[in-house]
Amino acid sequence: MEFRLTKEQEELQLAVRHFAETEVVPAVTRMEKEERFPNELVAGMAARGWMGIPIAKQWGGMGGDFISYIVAIHEISKASAALGVILSVHSSVCTLPILKHGTEAQRNRYVSKLAKGEWLGAFALTEPHAGSDAASIRTVAEKDGGHYVLNGAKLFITNAGAADVYLAFAVSDPEKRAKGVTAFLIDNAAPGVQVGLKERKMGLHGSNTCELIFDGLRLPESQVLGKAGEGFAIAMGSLDGGRIGIAAQALGIAEAALRLIEERFRIRSSRSAFTPQHAELAELTVIAEAARLLVYRAAWLRQEGEACTKEASMAKLFASDTAVQIAGAAVRLLGLEGCSESSTAERLFRDAKVTQIYEGTNEIHRIVISGQLLRAE
Ligand code: CAA
Repeated sequence: MEFRLTKEQEELQLAVRHFAETEVVPAVTRMEKEERFPNELVAGMAARGWMGIPIAKQWGGMGGDFISYIVAIHEISKASAALGVILSVHSSVCTLPILKHGTEAQRNRYVSKLAKGEWLGAFALTEPHAGSDAASIRTVAEKDGGHYVLNGAKLFITNAGAADVYLAFAVSDPEKRAKGVTAFLIDNAAPGVQVGLKERKMGLHGSNTCELIFDGLRLPESQVLGKAGEGFAIAMGSLDGGRIGIAAQALGIAEAALRLIEERFRIRSSRSAFTPQHAELAELTVIAEAARLLVYRAAWLRQEGEACTKEASMAKLFASDTAVQIAGAAVRLLGLEGCSESSTAERLFRDAKVTQIYEGTNEIHRIVISGQLLRAE
């Protein structure tokens, strides 16, 4: 058993930490205030190869492993959770599924542009009537000769508006429910694709979350990812990896909040001996460390190609609850300063909440974990 990062992973960690501290931190307050998508920071990550960390060099990526990719989301999210989710969605639930399920032509067209960061990717599953119950989506894909015609609306789509390509899901055979869902690769510029309302959110102001509308969108069969009817399994398999990314994002938020608490107590420690607040700091440190172990174990399983549905859900559930708990404690322990709009604790607190909700609510993760435990052998 080895609990250390490899030399390469450590080098990447230091490089991402340096970028986060020198380029992301100075930009974050303004970016959040203006609710502006951070094109220049995404370009900065692309220039360093980080929009394609777990993608082989042959496909334009950095040729790193899955843990390296998780290290990058973790470090970036300490400085900006908005930038963390942009990277996570782009990689886990767009580029990697295309690499895994795509034809040679699809890989050639999409993967290297996405891995180099020339294009940004997004994932369009959620709909107004289908969030947690993803198999009940209503966007239809009707067959018309060698084409599909898509009609419907997607909601809360991260990166929409900034993305060049969507991995989107529609019902091609309504009788079959989950087994009647098909995955499509959709270019943002295709006629019939419209980006709708941009959500104003409580947190993650630097990341786009928009409605996406398909109105008579005509796609050749060559835009189907995998086979017709495999879409739901592709979505769920992709989310196994995606949820580890979100868990790493939550871990970054939790550790950033913990650092604020430590700094505050270090300043005050000359005046006080052991206090109840010090006990709380110790307890918060323990849960942050437990979250870190769950996140990196799930990432290691994913990297090894082993089943990780349960472990990804456990990491996402625990890391997001931890982020909310520690960010909440930071606001409380910093007092009125923590409630100020200009404080980092306040932003972390707002950013943390959605990690309990997206990529499967934590209630859904309890269902997934117990389902995996109790399923028949
Ligand atoms: N990997 C591969 N295939 C899987 C799978 C997995 N982890 N889980 C399920 N499947 C496949 C199986 O093939 C299964 O068929 P079998 O019966 O042959 O095994 C089929 O899917 C149906 O599975 P279920 O019966 O378990 O499906 P369900 O309808 O009961 O739904 C659910 C299960 C877990 C609740 C699912 O609907 C779910 O995950 N909901 C949450 C949706 C979600 O996470 N949305 C995220 C949106 S993206 C986002 O949030 C990004 C962002 O902004 C940051």
